[in-house]
Amino acid sequence: MTMEQSVGSHKRHSTESASPALKTSPLYRFEKSFPYFREPGEIGTFSLDADRQFHNDKRQLKSYFPPKDPGHCRFDLKHGYEIMIHKDESVKEYLHTLLQWIMESRDRFVVKKTPSKGSCSSGMTEDAVKTKSSDDLKFQSLSTDFVCWRGLLTKLLCVPYEKRDGLMLAVIKFRGTYYMCEFETESKKLEKQQTTPRQEQMCAWGFKFEQYVVADKSSERPDTSKPVNTNEGFCTIVRSRLESHSLVFGAEVDCEDPWRKQGNKYVELKTSRLIDTQRQHENFCRFKLIKWWAQSFLVGIPVVICGFRDDNGVVHCLQNYPVKEMPALTKDSIRQPWKPNVCFNFLKDFLDFVKSNITEDNERCAHVFRWGPGKDMTYERRDNDEEFNFLPQWFVSWDAW
Ligand code: A3P
Ligand code: MG
Ligand code: MG
Repeated sequence: MTMEQSVGSHKRHSTESASPALKTSPLYRFEKSFPYFREPGEIGTFSLDADRQFHNDKRQLKSYFPPKDPGHCRFDLKHGYEIMIHKDESVKEYLHTLLQWIMESRDRFVVKKTPSKGSCSSGMTEDAVKTKSSDDLKFQSLSTDFVCWRGLLTKLLCVPYEKRDGLMLAVIKFRGTYYMCEFETESKKLEKQQTTPRQEQMCAWGFKFEQYVVADKSSERPDTSKPVNTNEGFCTIVRSRLESHSLVFGAEVDCEDPWRKQGNKYVELKTSRLIDTQRQHENFCRFKLIKWWAQSFLVGIPVVICGFRDDNGVVHCLQNYPVKEMPALTKDSIRQPWKPNVCFNFLKDFLDFVKSNITEDNERCAHVFRWGPGKDMTYERRDNDEEFNFLPQWFVSWDAW
């Protein structure tokens, strides 16, 4: 079933016909100057261990360890595939680890505070409130408009140019903040069910590449003998602003480059098929670089390091792609290139659209957005629908609220 069919055959909620749609084309709608986007600033980090357990620390942050000659190497990405440990993809994680980090990091939010019931008398001045211990104070809100994963923002940025994959997400407004969570489209689910063993193995190559070029903090060099375990991860949480919208989002980061002297030290690692022809180079610029750019730009990562592999899964050379240079590289290589201002103006319009159409603050009320290439983005309201009520009870009933 295609995305279009899945939208069409979906049982419509009675309010859907009244819901406005968001136009995602034509592109000239978004051909305005680049909107204000504040440089993302890190407000925290956390790690997920080999058992996917949360730790409020940097234990999983790895160091980039380049090969002696990045222009000539031989990394067999098939090596050790039999012993690889795969994260259980059937466990839906929603925003849970991000919410867990928020709950453990409330000092990172300049919150609107009110004295908790019985903690102090009415008429207390703001200064007097500040002198009380933080335990005596209650949050009203996180004073943040949007909370989500970086991956969702990456996909939203790419919508104006996406020709293949649809997108589905749910938005819940809770205590003044819009929580946004991606859901798998019907066609993605189907595609996953039809994955061949060869495709499955190829999906693992990216993770094996990471193992060849990163070292644990504690060790000196990469260890490619141990199993790759995709449960492990290191996440950064950043705060940014897009015009009037304040954003807090989490992002999984591959490693840091300890030799980088200034600015953001994080590095994004990628693999890609060796480029032999002009046509392949153009496709690489049109379809891959936009995703790499959007993913890294959002968190201020300065460089993507790509391992170029052959069809047999052997990486032969590494190449650095400064994120800043990706739009120009694309512009010089293809006709009708993707443009950063178009991507960000669309994202801004989307966030405007969410704010102006979702006004009810209710953790049990999800708004499900659906989009497919060539279509407008539509949404429907789902009340008390377990499938989309992604905010866990432990977050909703947090005693700090
Ligand atoms: P490659 O992108 O090098 O193929 P990331 O690059 O975002 O850190 O992701 C690491 C690896 O996870 C990817 O490496 C790929 O192997 C796998 N991966 C990421 N997103 C995926 C997706 N949507 N489907 C399948 N595999 C994915
Ligand atoms: Mg990664
Ligand atoms: Mg990567």
